[in-house]
Amino acid sequence: MLDPKPVTPARTQLPATGTSWKDLEVALQEAKASDYQWKEGRMALYVYWLDEQLAAVAKEASSLFFMENGLGRKAFPSVQKLESEVIGMALSLFHAPPSAGGSFTSGGTESIFQAVKTARSVKRAAQAAQGVDRARCNIVIPRTAHPAFDKAAYTLDMDVIRVPVLANFRADVAAMADAIDSNTAMIVGSAPGYPYGVFDPIAELSDLAVEKKLLLHVDACVGGFLAPFMKMNGSSIPNFDFALPGVSSLSADIHKYGFSAKGASLILYRDQALKQHQVFAFDDWPRGAYSTETFLGTRAASPVASAWAVMNYLGKEGYQKIASIVEETQQKMIAGVNSISELEVVQPHSELSFVLYRSRCSDVDINAVADCMDEKGWFVGRNVEPVAIHFMVNPVHAPVLERYLADLAECVTLVKTEKLVGVLDTTTY
Ligand SMILES: Cc1ncc(COP(=O)(O)O)c(C=O)c1O
Repeated sequence: MLDPKPVTPARTQLPATGTSWKDLEVALQEAKASDYQWKEGRMALYVYWLDEQLAAVAKEASSLFFMENGLGRKAFPSVQKLESEVIGMALSLFHAPPSAGGSFTSGGTESIFQAVKTARSVKRAAQAAQGVDRARCNIVIPRTAHPAFDKAAYTLDMDVIRVPVLANFRADVAAMADAIDSNTAMIVGSAPGYPYGVFDPIAELSDLAVEKKLLLHVDACVGGFLAPFMKMNGSSIPNFDFALPGVSSLSADIHKYGFSAKGASLILYRDQALKQHQVFAFDDWPRGAYSTETFLGTRAASPVASAWAVMNYLGKEGYQKIASIVEETQQKMIAGVNSISELEVVQPHSELSFVLYRSRCSDVDINAVADCMDEKGWFVGRNVEPVAIHFMVNPVHAPVLERYLADLAECVTLVKTEKLVGVLDTTTY
């Protein structure tokens, strides 16, 4: 386990008197000025951007619900209604049966946390029903799955069995089957996983889950609001959702390719009864009953309104348009990178939006290329296995792709002629 150092906070003081918004706005704009220019497509991750109109919808909806609190279900029926409609749209998109349910969460990490907590709770209930002493349970996941599973398991006092993936970067279902033991609470597949952007064989994992009577969580945090629309556009995207009988839960982030304000994800369950395991209800204090179905208490309503507005604004047609821009840009990027003879796109490449590329010759150090791109103002994602540059395409990159590729070719030449060597720095978080 890494042991990251805590960030030392600046010892600032609350000012004795207030400052005008005009001055504060200037200060905030100045603070942003030294960031990477994300609106100019300089970020390989983190920011999803189509155009000013879509951003205005996401922002305006956010501000309309800026003060409301998602904790107050009775106080804000509007928030509950919007949330329920967002969940409903997603359940339909992911072919969920009528028995299905879900919750709106603050992000992929919280959605995954809920899935893991539910799995632990189901397992504990089964152990109790069998009269077995409560044993520490585990989840069996591919090595490529997101660290949020480990974060959840760590917090919930569970074990994680990370199983090596196949040479094609996809989950090794046979090896996962071998890793399952009597304390396994859930298996996991990604649709797709973050390091390589490829889909795990969810259909096979679904068969395994049915055979072993185990829960299967599909992490579609990245792919959930892109893959269905690429499929509608005719691309060959594997099945990954509730249409597969073994899929018991699925996470999908609206704040990624759903294009809403950040703080918007969904955890969806095949059955409402499963969702019930998330609920925390308490009344042993002077204020009476308190209950939540996700991790947070007070909850921003802005992301709910933003997600609702963006989903209705775009509709299937808008998301399909985004999907086709992403696909076209990804294909062009793959071709552009491969046309630089010293580089190669790692195969198999992502079915979705990722491009992973590395050096194909010993005299071009890919980390030095990454450093050079960084100096040119591109925020670079770096992969460790293999050592490679990691890029997640979204429409913000379409207009700047040629510039990116030109800078990349220049960097490769520079690294080669100057014999530059870089350091693998994966602190992209
Ligand atoms: C596949 C996958 N799952 C989960 C997450 C976690 O999402 P978040 O950062 O919204 O918590 C990510 C984030 O990139 C991801 O790529």
